[in-house]
Amino acid sequence: MKKAHIIATSSYVPETILTNQQLEQMVDTSDEWIQTRTGIQERRIAGAEEFSSTMGAKAADIALKKAGKTAQDIDCIIVGTLTPDYLFPSTACLIQDLIGAGNIAAFDIQAACSGYVYALSLAKAFIESAQYSCVLVVASEKLSSIVNYQDRSTCVLFGDGSAACIVSAEKTHLSIDSVCLGSDGSQSDLLILPGGGCKNPTSAKTVEENLHYIQMQGKDVFKHAVLRMEASCQECIQKAGIQESDISWLIPHQANMRIINAMAKRFTHLTQDHIYKTVHKYGNTSCSSLGIALDELLQEKAIHPEDKLLLTAFGAGFTWGSSVLTYKGDVA
Ligand code: UT7
Repeated sequence: MKKAHIIATSSYVPETILTNQQLEQMVDTSDEWIQTRTGIQERRIAGAEEFSSTMGAKAADIALKKAGKTAQDIDCIIVGTLTPDYLFPSTACLIQDLIGAGNIAAFDIQAACSGYVYALSLAKAFIESAQYSCVLVVASEKLSSIVNYQDRSTCVLFGDGSAACIVSAEKTHLSIDSVCLGSDGSQSDLLILPGGGCKNPTSAKTVEENLHYIQMQGKDVFKHAVLRMEASCQECIQKAGIQESDISWLIPHQANMRIINAMAKRFTHLTQDHIYKTVHKYGNTSCSSLGIALDELLQEKAIHPEDKLLLTAFGAGFTWGSSVLTYKGDVA
C-alpha cells in the first residue's frame, strides 16, 4: 500500500511586526501581562495588499520549489483557513490561479486552529487511496482582519502568516504515520466569530455589535485546549503503535506558552529544547501555527532519521487533532 509522506514544508510570515509595546499604546495592557499570561512578545501583521490567498500562494511556491516540483505536478489543493479572502469562492481556488496550477481539485476546509492536521489527514487519505498523487496543503491566516484592536482580551493574542507542505507517496522527508481528529460542537460559543454567516448576516447592527470580530472565553478555552490535546496525543501515539517515550519532538499548537508548558509536562522524557515554540514571535496564527512551527523546526534543529515528531492542535468548534510523523532523511 502507498504511504503518504510530507516531502517538503514551507512557511511565510509578513514583514510588519506588532510588539507588546505597541499594543500598550492601543489598549489597556502591558508587556508584562502579555508575556506572563501568554509568552507572546510580538506577532506579524499582513500588509493591506496581503491576504490569505497571497500569503498562502507564497508558502505554496516555496514548498513546490523545495520539493523540486512545479504547480503542474500537483493534482489537489487543500487550504485550511478561518480567514478566507471571501466566504466564496474558496481561497484554494484563488491559490490555484495564483500559483498557476492546472484545473485540479481545490477546496477549503474549516477546522479553525486544527485545520493543518485536518488537511494532512485528508491529504494522507487521498494519497493512500491513490485518488491523487501530489497534494498541496496550505494553511493561511490573516487574523488581523477579524481581530478587534480595542478588545485587549483578544487583540494581544493573534498574528498573521501561512504555511504549506507537499504530500505524496515518495518515500522521503516525513512519513505520516497516524492522524487523529475530533470535535465537540456543544462548546461552539466559547470561541466564535458570530457575524457574517447565515445566522447573523452582515448588517449595520452586526457591525455595531462587533459581531465581525473574534470572541473568546479565554479561560474556558484554555482548559479544553490542554485536556483535548493531551487526549488526542495519547490516541495518536497509540494509533501509530508506539510509546510516548518514542516521541523525539513535540510541536503543539502555538496559542499560549502556558498551554504549551502544560502539554510538555506529560512528556517528561523531552527537554524544553525538544518542545518546539514559535508563539513568542508570531502569537497565535491559528491554522498556520503548526505548519510554521514544523517548517522552522526542520530548518533550525538537528533532526535525525527515524526521529518521531508529534503535532497537536486545538481550535474553535471545538476541533482538535494530532499526527505522528517520522523523519526519513533526504531533506527536500
Ligand atoms: O487557538 C485557539 C485556542 N485558543 C487558546 O487556546 C487560547 C486560550 N486562552 C488563553 O490563552 C488565556 O485564557 C488568555 C491569554 C486569553 C487569558 O489569560 P487568563 O489567564 O485566562 O486571563 P483571564 O481571561 O482570566 O483574565 C485575567 C484578568 C482579567 O481581569 P480581572 O477580571 O481579573 O480584573 C482580564 O480582564 O486579566 C485581564 N486581561 C488583561 N489585562 C491586561 C485580559 N486581557 C488582558 C490584557 N492585558 N491584554
